[in-house]
Amino acid sequence: MIVLVSGVGSNLQALIDASQDPTFGASIVGVGADRSGIEGLARAERAGIPTFVVELSSFDTRAAWDEALTAACAEHEPDLVVLAGFMKLVGPAFLEAFGGRTVNTHPSLLPSFPGAHGPRDALAHGVKVTGATLFVVDEGLDEGPIIAQVAVPVEDGDTVDSLHERIKVVERRMLTEWVGRLAREGVPR
Ligand code: GRF
Repeated sequence: MIVLVSGVGSNLQALIDASQDPTFGASIVGVGADRSGIEGLARAERAGIPTFVVELSSFDTRAAWDEALTAACAEHEPDLVVLAGFMKLVGPAFLEAFGGRTVNTHPSLLPSFPGAHGPRDALAHGVKVTGATLFVVDEGLDEGPIIAQVAVPVEDGDTVDSLHERIKVVERRMLTEWVGRLAREGVPR
C-alpha cells in the first residue's frame, strides 16, 4: 500500500507498526505528501520507506498536480492507497487510477461533519457522541461508501484538541484493523 499524509502522521505510524507483523497482510511501499518538512515524512524515512512530495503550488493547475500525484503513486504499484490525514481532495486522474482501492480516515461519524474540521464542528454542534469513519474515496468531500466507524463520547469540558486526540486513539485502531482486513480480503464493493 501507499500512505498519503499531510501532517503528524500518527495514523501512518500505527500502520508502520502494524505492518511489522508478517500476518498483517500489507506492507507500505511508499509514503507521499503534499508538503515537505512534516513529521509524517520523517516517520517514513526513519522506517526506511521511500517517500515523495507532490506540492500543489509547484503546478499551474490542480489537474496537473493530480496527474503528478497519480504518477508518483503509480511508480510504487500499490494495491491499496490509504489517505491518513491527507488534507487534499484527490482528482479525476487519481480516481481513474486508484478509485475503488483508495480509503480515507476521517475524524467524525460521517455523513456528519465532513471537511477539514470534524472535531471542531462536532463540538460546536453540541453532539454527545462523535467518532471516526473509514470510507472508500470518491469524487465527493468525505462522501464515499462507509467501511467502518467507531464512536467516541464527547465529554464535559472537551476542547477541540482533547476531543480530537481521543478520537485519534480509536481511529488508529480502526485504521490498522481494517487496512489489514482490506489487504487480505479486498475493498468491499
Ligand atoms: C486524523 O484525525 C485524520 O482523520 C484527520 O487528521 C488527523 C491526522 O492525524 N484528517 P495524523 O497526522 O495521522 O496524526
